[in-house]
Amino acid sequence: MTSLLIDHIGSLVTNDPGLGEGPLGVIEDAAVVVQDGVVVWAGPRGGTPEGAARDRFDAGGRAVIPGFVDSHAHLVFAGDRAREFEARMSGRPYTAGGIRTTVAATRAATDEGLRRNVRRLVAEALRSGTTTVECKSGYGLTIQDEERGLRLAAEHTPEVTYLGAHVVPPEYAGNPDAYVDLVRGPMLDACAPHARWIDVFCERGAFDGDQTRAILEAGARRGLVPRVHAGQLGPGPGVAVAVELGAASADHVTHLTDADVDALASGSTVATLLPGAEFSTRSPYPDARRLLDAGVTVALAADCNPGSSYTTNIPFCVALAVRDMNMTPAEAVWAATKGGARALRRTDVGHLAPGARADLVLLDAPSYIHLAYRPGVPLVARVWKDGSPQP
Ligand code: NIG
Ligand code: FE
Repeated sequence: MTSLLIDHIGSLVTNDPGLGEGPLGVIEDAAVVVQDGVVVWAGPRGGTPEGAARDRFDAGGRAVIPGFVDSHAHLVFAGDRAREFEARMSGRPYTAGGIRTTVAATRAATDEGLRRNVRRLVAEALRSGTTTVECKSGYGLTIQDEERGLRLAAEHTPEVTYLGAHVVPPEYAGNPDAYVDLVRGPMLDACAPHARWIDVFCERGAFDGDQTRAILEAGARRGLVPRVHAGQLGPGPGVAVAVELGAASADHVTHLTDADVDALASGSTVATLLPGAEFSTRSPYPDARRLLDAGVTVALAADCNPGSSYTTNIPFCVALAVRDMNMTPAEAVWAATKGGARALRRTDVGHLAPGARADLVLLDAPSYIHLAYRPGVPLVARVWKDGSPQP
């Protein structure tokens, strides 16, 4: 039995309002006791329970928060698109078309090359405090390449998402419906055993509402839970389909009608905002306030991918959400932890109440507010995953 006391925490975010102040359940001058990878106690230092011999870590008055839960990432790919980014920064718009560049590079890559890239990005995310990350396929777009993408993703996370419906690959350009049949037929048969989720890029230039519904319904019949890329580049049917099918989340949601907001507010689908994509495509940010004020559950994720958002850094996304999306620091930190957990339907991560996984982040700062207050500064001083300090 391994036991760890994290002591002398200046400010602890538990995300459990029953344990501390406000929606983040903040406890000042706190301690956490971890046993066998799980939080067994969190509270004010004075109340630390007597216990068996345990290691002690002195947080030195700094802040501790739950590990970030990044519920939207595309990490299985080869190559990069720096040139495309450069062209965009001199005025070219972002379109779904760039995805095909990465598809060609990914198909040509070896398993080992792809594996190395996923490992590199997961490690990079961990260094900035991400302890749970979702990972999509979507740059293979053949039965074999999608199945391979999911297998490689599953080496790193249980949150694996089948995104055969990312775009229609060039070989099906003249017959997109045949590609939809492949995605919801034999490709799904090969991919379903490796995935927990199914996703569709529902957007002009990718898949329309009927195609999205047909693909997600086929996935649901195979036990995969839907999530949807919706309203990234323009308004469309993505949110409506997501809510209709009880999707776990609708992601991007940059372009929303009032009906979309009402649908999200009345359903259980989480709205996952990805400000890294707006930053890197120089697009207007989603209206987080409109969603929060309507009572929608909001998550924040990095959307790491080589085209629209090549970052794994959640503190950066928190800073963007606060500065440019009118979220408060508390709302943004909640969205990047508990909100991400909601989007992945996980109750064991995203908070630090007893029973939660001991995924914690020590900040080189006295409070979580500094994540937005000190943008671009690497404040993540130490990360524990399942109670173990990470390299
Ligand atoms: O979430 N929108 C679709 N998929 C990615 C972008 C993929 C790419 O450009 O390679 C996204 O932004
Ligand atoms: Fe995405």
